[in-house]
Amino acid sequence: MSLRFVVGCCFGAVVRLSAQAVYADANVFKPTSTPAKSAHDLAILVLAVCAVIFVVVSALLFYTVYKFRHRKTDDGHEPAQVYGSNQIEIAWTVIPILIVVVLTMATARVVAKVQDTPQPKDAIEITVIGHQWWWEVRYPKLGVITANELHMPVSANLAQYPSFLTLKSADVAHSFWVPQLAGKTDLIPGQTNRMWMDPQKLGTYLGNCAEYCGTQHANMLLRVVVESKEDFDKWVEAQKAPAAVVAEANEGRAMFLSLSCVNCHRVAGTTANGEFGPDLTHLMSRQTLGAGVIPNDFANLKGWIHDPEESKPGNYMPNMQLNAKELDLVVAYLSTLK
Ligand code: CUA
Repeated sequence: MSLRFVVGCCFGAVVRLSAQAVYADANVFKPTSTPAKSAHDLAILVLAVCAVIFVVVSALLFYTVYKFRHRKTDDGHEPAQVYGSNQIEIAWTVIPILIVVVLTMATARVVAKVQDTPQPKDAIEITVIGHQWWWEVRYPKLGVITANELHMPVSANLAQYPSFLTLKSADVAHSFWVPQLAGKTDLIPGQTNRMWMDPQKLGTYLGNCAEYCGTQHANMLLRVVVESKEDFDKWVEAQKAPAAVVAEANEGRAMFLSLSCVNCHRVAGTTANGEFGPDLTHLMSRQTLGAGVIPNDFANLKGWIHDPEESKPGNYMPNMQLNAKELDLVVAYLSTLK
């Protein structure tokens, strides 16, 4: 077990992802967004203060153990018994209080600074709704609905495009956490929470649900794709487009629309209008299936529909018991939803 893995586990920063074994990238010690950097700097201060305390206490302990060790020349009498010392007692009461006050003030300052950041007019607005066990993602101003994968423009030196998130839950409490971009924020039924992030480096950032929410909590993974503003705008345009209609997949389309899939899933422009499961309008544009459990490709899609329990036991997508022909038709249609 590597040190990095141990450190990662201790800080809860490990994202288990069978699709892509990326541990180091969900690292709280590599922040690339202002809120994450503020939390990181505070954590370094706390760790440094704790390290100094650890060194001082350990040094005193070892010194005392060595200095007052048992010697052969000891005459067997107890040492002088000393009861109370005002100076020492005041010192070990006041110093820890001062340390706690300093750390509290530093923490309060960072929390206030992050939370009080006003939303600029042109900020990207994203609503994230936690479900057992996937993420609904909406861009209300842009008319985009997707799942498990957020896209954000990068905030480079002069062009700042922070993303402001509204967090809600459809069922139980969840927690939205992308370690490199910001701290955790809970998604609580009946309540709306907010957070923001301004990713400053291109890339795909991994995150996960950080609040136990049921049997597949550990497989409630998410990813944030940070891209240039141009690429982000292109992505928005593609996501806003109606679902593809491909002549060769007409039979599959009719089959899909005749099944009860439509009660849980939405495909824009069709009668599929469900909201219980992820929107499928541009399913194939996403990188994973089952909220990060397996890479999204034709073979995995087929396996997923054939038996969703296999890769994500306990999830709420039922096995539709399709026969081989029906399965082929449905997968052929869904794989056209790019
Ligand atoms: Cu959602 Cu844990």
